[in-house]
Amino acid sequence: MDKVSVIGAGQVGSTTALMIAQKEFADVTLIDIVQGLAKGKALDIAEAAPIGGYDSRVFGTEEISEIEGSKVVVVTAGLTRSPGMSRQDLLEKNATIVEGIIKDIARYAPLSIIVMVTNPLDLMTYLALKVSGFPWHRVVGQAGVLDAARFRCFVAAELGVSVEDVSAMVLGGHGDSMVPLPRYTTVSGIPIPELLPSDTINRLVERTRRGGGEMVNLLGTSALYAPGASVALMVEAIARDKKRILPCSVCLHGQYGVEGVCMGVPVKLGATGVEEVIELELTGEELEAFQDSARICREQIDLLKI
Ligand code: 2OP
Repeated sequence: MDKVSVIGAGQVGSTTALMIAQKEFADVTLIDIVQGLAKGKALDIAEAAPIGGYDSRVFGTEEISEIEGSKVVVVTAGLTRSPGMSRQDLLEKNATIVEGIIKDIARYAPLSIIVMVTNPLDLMTYLALKVSGFPWHRVVGQAGVLDAARFRCFVAAELGVSVEDVSAMVLGGHGDSMVPLPRYTTVSGIPIPELLPSDTINRLVERTRRGGGEMVNLLGTSALYAPGASVALMVEAIARDKKRILPCSVCLHGQYGVEGVCMGVPVKLGATGVEEVIELELTGEELEAFQDSARICREQIDLLKI
């Protein structure tokens, strides 16, 4: 089995490790600097395996050098939000943490594909790209899968249909400027503007944009199950070379009129990482919203002097 490492054994990291193990497509190394945390969580996941019926091996450690040989390295380490905090508020602290981790990934797993999860997501993905020196297609951020899952969940509940039949597309930054696309959100192929009035769609779009904040207000910290499931899906697409089309944060090189910024766009994810960036046809309004989102991200990259 491939080896996948997950750095950070907090809520999102350990949920990701569990979900990867349950899907049984890779062995997982879980890493955290907090003494005993990764070892304890990994042992707990391993002890649930006889009941869950999965044979992936899960190993916990404090040593980041143990990532050696990983096909994929997931980075969840960093501070999470508490009520009243935006993802941006985490910027400087998480940048310092992430920078050190990425240097270690470049040293111990130079051929891996990095999946960033730490917030603010698009900035941390950009930072990972710059610090690692990896080619752009081996650094990808998780956000759009989660945002689209939230949108799918809300649409399915509104219509009283199975979540399985709802497919959604969300572009842009992982924050208030994200761009959910109702025209590309369908129920068994039927675009939702044909099924729901526009004020209802606007309400669901707004709830999706604020989906992370809604969780922080309820839990007092960030969400864990939906983010963990989203990361596991992306890692599976890479490990199994599934070539899934998923919205992910990648560095753009002119697509959608954006240059040198990591933003959420639909990509093909397979064994070599991001195998293609898909350019949807957007209306003037959608493109403007996307480019506004990119402008905000660019300003923050400049502020951080990455
Ligand atoms: C979220 O949207 C943690 O950013 C993540 O829930």
